[in-house]
Amino acid sequence: MKILAIETSCDETSIAIVEAWMVAKNTPKFKIVANTISSQVKLHAQYGGVVPNLASREHLKNLIPVFEETLKKASIKKQDIPKKIQLLAVTVGPGLIPSLIVGVNFAKTLGLITNLPIVGTNHLEGHIYSNWLDHSQEINFPALNLIVSGGHTQLVLMKDCFKYRLLGETRDDAAGEAFDKIARLLGLGYPGGPAIDKASQNGNPEAFKLPRPMIDSKDFEFSFAGLKTAVLYMTRTMTSEEISQKTPGIAASAQQAIVDVLISKTLGAAQQYKAKTIMVSGGVAANKKLREILTKKSTVPAFFPPIELATDNAAMIAMAAYFNFLNKKSPSVQAGWPWEQIEADSNLQLKTS
Ligand code: KG4
Ligand code: ZN
Repeated sequence: MKILAIETSCDETSIAIVEAWMVAKNTPKFKIVANTISSQVKLHAQYGGVVPNLASREHLKNLIPVFEETLKKASIKKQDIPKKIQLLAVTVGPGLIPSLIVGVNFAKTLGLITNLPIVGTNHLEGHIYSNWLDHSQEINFPALNLIVSGGHTQLVLMKDCFKYRLLGETRDDAAGEAFDKIARLLGLGYPGGPAIDKASQNGNPEAFKLPRPMIDSKDFEFSFAGLKTAVLYMTRTMTSEEISQKTPGIAASAQQAIVDVLISKTLGAAQQYKAKTIMVSGGVAANKKLREILTKKSTVPAFFPPIELATDNAAMIAMAAYFNFLNKKSPSVQAGWPWEQIEADSNLQLKTS
């Protein structure tokens, strides 16, 4: 079946068309027909982070051009949507409520016009199922997910599809947030993750001694606020020339500290829960150092989504929606069903046990 998915949970306006089919039980295959992402990074960079009301205005402006571009890439005419597409999907949360509402309203309107069913999709499940694009036949349960984005840092064990157990999460800042805040201290702009990733390439990861918060705690909880504070204290005594001269070393040292904690906890959890597969997802899964070291150190296969599917996109929402549709897990509406079943929920969680 072909799925048209809409993602507007934060500052990327994205619409994708994905073809999905089953090759065996729990083993779907996916082909991305089109995946358009319109980023608002430039707009928010001047404020040092995402401004929710500006983000929703931009979604409103961008959705129709992004929709038209996606249809064009897929060679589908607007009037042929009910014949060529079988399912609609939209992110309902978690995320910024003004942003989510724009996408949800767009999806409902499209559903009303086309009579296609809609699956309201959890953004975190989108990140998780992004790993199925390239690895659907290699994922074995129990599988351990490290979800690392701008808003989340979680270790989630999956006994099967939809059987989630939360092993631990951050007590304060998310890993992506730590990258963003440290980048801001270094004057590297927003979003900080890609900037630190790049600046680190010319820096020595041992140049500065920085803490690895909670690395020795026996649980699978995280904390990154202390690391940001350590960088703040360190840079406070430096002139701006000194900071810019030492930026590669500070960036590389901070990145190494974040990566060390993420990898230590992930490998510890994988061992304790006898995970057969590790999957990393979310924006921080784009980080080169994390990819390199985890792949090298893990004794079980460690998968990452393609870089362009690590950060927010609608293709991953289509993939998660397909699982939900087959398993009737998410609220989904058919033509004539109560539309209020599809509701934006900024605090939506994974249904964990
Ligand atoms: O998943 P995502 O696009 O949005 C959320 O759901 O939050 O993740 C965005 C986060 C930002 O904090 C960004 O700085 C981080 O992912 N990020 C990275 C990299 N690319 C994006 N962090 C480290 N290294 C990267 N290459
Ligand atoms: Zn995300």
